[in-house]
Amino acid sequence: MGSEQRRIVVVGAGSGIGAATAAHFHTRGDHVLAVDVRENETPAAEHRTCDLRDTAAVDALLHDIGSGWDLLAHVAGVPGTAPPADVLTINYLGMRLMTEGMLPLLHPGGAVVAVASTAGAGWAHRTEVLEGLLGATDTAAVESWLATQDPSYPVYNTSKEAVILYAKRLAAPAWTKYGVRINTVSPGPTETPILADFEQSMGVDVLDMVRSTVGRHATVDDIVPIIDFLGSPAARWVTGQDVWADGGFVSSILAGTPIDI
Ligand SMILES: NC(=O)c1ccc[n+]([C@@H]2O[C@H](COP(=O)([O-])OP(=O)(O)OC[C@H]3O[C@@H](n4cnc5c(N)ncnc54)[C@H](O)[C@@H]3O)[C@@H](O)[C@H]2O)c1
Repeated sequence: MGSEQRRIVVVGAGSGIGAATAAHFHTRGDHVLAVDVRENETPAAEHRTCDLRDTAAVDALLHDIGSGWDLLAHVAGVPGTAPPADVLTINYLGMRLMTEGMLPLLHPGGAVVAVASTAGAGWAHRTEVLEGLLGATDTAAVESWLATQDPSYPVYNTSKEAVILYAKRLAAPAWTKYGVRINTVSPGPTETPILADFEQSMGVDVLDMVRSTVGRHATVDDIVPIIDFLGSPAARWVTGQDVWADGGFVSSILAGTPIDI
């Protein structure tokens, strides 16, 4: 592929990280299909509206766009201030339906990069709980699973844990059957319109603490190059990985006492 034009679907292209991702590839000369629930003017070759809560709309999109794609950059998501069923349906199920639907539409050598979050960093401790959610492949099943869960555990975290675990479990079959890689990028707090909702759902104190630990919040320009790399042929031997793009915040918590320098 090299510097040839690539064909890229960006879901969540209407705002924030998704808009920056679509604009980045478009500016580079790639053919970008920008998908979002909202009408938008993000620079792209084609635009489609699609509500990830509507599985029939997702199916119609997948049916219409044809094959021959190089990359699905699945960025769309909603914060924990949205209704819990929407958080799981959009963030987890929507990503899953788009990813599985795109596998046969991507060239061998193609890739999926989904945006998760450092809020999903606890996924490895929650695999037993998430088992039931990963068994849910439609809206009704996701909602039934949700009804059995502890409402005090943040549903946004659950949705992103599920995205990361799903991508890891899909990586081997996607590679062996389709020659497609799948990775996730987990940003820490990033300056986009969603941040105000995170201040509400996670607490201003928590976000201020993250910012003071690593010096600043991310900008979209910190995140897009990682999506670009993971989606590029240069990352051809990388699959099933979750990359923290958080200025080192999670590592600083998990690794214990910092080395004295
Ligand atoms: N900004 C942050 O601090 C941060 C941190 C970690 C992870 N994330 C994740 O990054 C991704 C992008 O978020 P952002 O910061 O750019 O926020 P944003 O609100 O600017 O963008 C989210 C986009 O998703 C779209 N979307 C929402 N519901 C949809 C639906 N039902 N169907 C289709 N599209 C829908 C929105 O219209 C919007 O364009 C999300 O998955 C978010 O969870 C963001």
